[in-house]
Amino acid sequence: MQRQEAAVSTGEVLVAMRNLDKYYGGLRALAEVTLEIRKGEILALVGDNGAGKSTLIKTLSGAVEPDGGEILVDGRPVSFKTPKDATDAGIETVHQTLGLVDTLDVPQNVFLGRELTKKVFGLFPQLDQAAMRRRTHELLQRFAISLPTLNEPVHSLSGGQRQTIAISRLLLVEPKLLIMDEPMAALGVDEGSKVLDLVVKLRDEGLTILIISHNLEHVFAIADRIAVMKNGRLVAVVPSAATTREAVVGMITMGASGVRTEDRQWLS
Ligand SMILES: Nc1ncnc2c1ncn2[C@@H]1O[C@H](COP(=O)(O)OP(=O)(O)OP(=O)(O)O)[C@@H](O)[C@H]1O
Ligand SMILES: [Mg+2]
Repeated sequence: MQRQEAAVSTGEVLVAMRNLDKYYGGLRALAEVTLEIRKGEILALVGDNGAGKSTLIKTLSGAVEPDGGEILVDGRPVSFKTPKDATDAGIETVHQTLGLVDTLDVPQNVFLGRELTKKVFGLFPQLDQAAMRRRTHELLQRFAISLPTLNEPVHSLSGGQRQTIAISRLLLVEPKLLIMDEPMAALGVDEGSKVLDLVVKLRDEGLTILIISHNLEHVFAIADRIAVMKNGRLVAVVPSAATTREAVVGMITMGASGVRTEDRQWLS
């Protein structure tokens, strides 16, 4: 897979996490994590099972409240108590469960929870199916997403297509940051690479993306920078073009002591 450079990242910080801590009883899931997400970049978060990746993104999506530290969005401190707080700040997350309703069709899923209505006789609100279908069509076209049909219940669609619909829903609100936890994990090779293409396209449209993946081939194909976690700590944040897969494996398995001399400058 060919690496693709960021088209629009300015280096400006969109989200800053400072000294984030999270305890589950005696277990320290996050230990003083300080990490910045830059506008317009794809930042990949990697690390072994239990490293703290999901916990970290949950602090950004309003699902987990950190016990210490702070989060800033566009330089302003935020405190997310619920997922809605994060959404209001422009942060949208694609969960592994996708949150689709199998029996509904594509536009109904895209507009789930934010249905468009129209007034009949200027009085009675009614779902505006035609407008939702049109907006869905426009949205899919804008990102060159092709689906065999919009009218079938989504359970008839493939894993990759379902993933695409879950992402499309979030694009309706034009988020500042899109977070994805293992979006390619359950997909075949072809479908996975389509989702990767979509992620790159979204970045090129100006979106900022934080993505968790265990697949280093994927990570190196799309990410501008790679953040490595181990045992709740951030080990290093390396530009993908400046490192190698072997070097990242070293950091994942051995933490700071596994960092090559030439990557020491990226240590956290
Ligand atoms: N709700 C919870 N209650 C108790 N412990 C938790 C909870 N959520 C996570 N943990 C623990 O916190 C640590 C970090 O978990 P986390 O899910 O963030 O890891 P991860 O890097 O996402 O791992 P994976 O790659 O397996 O998804 C793990 O030891 C995990 O068991
Ligand atoms: Mg996880």
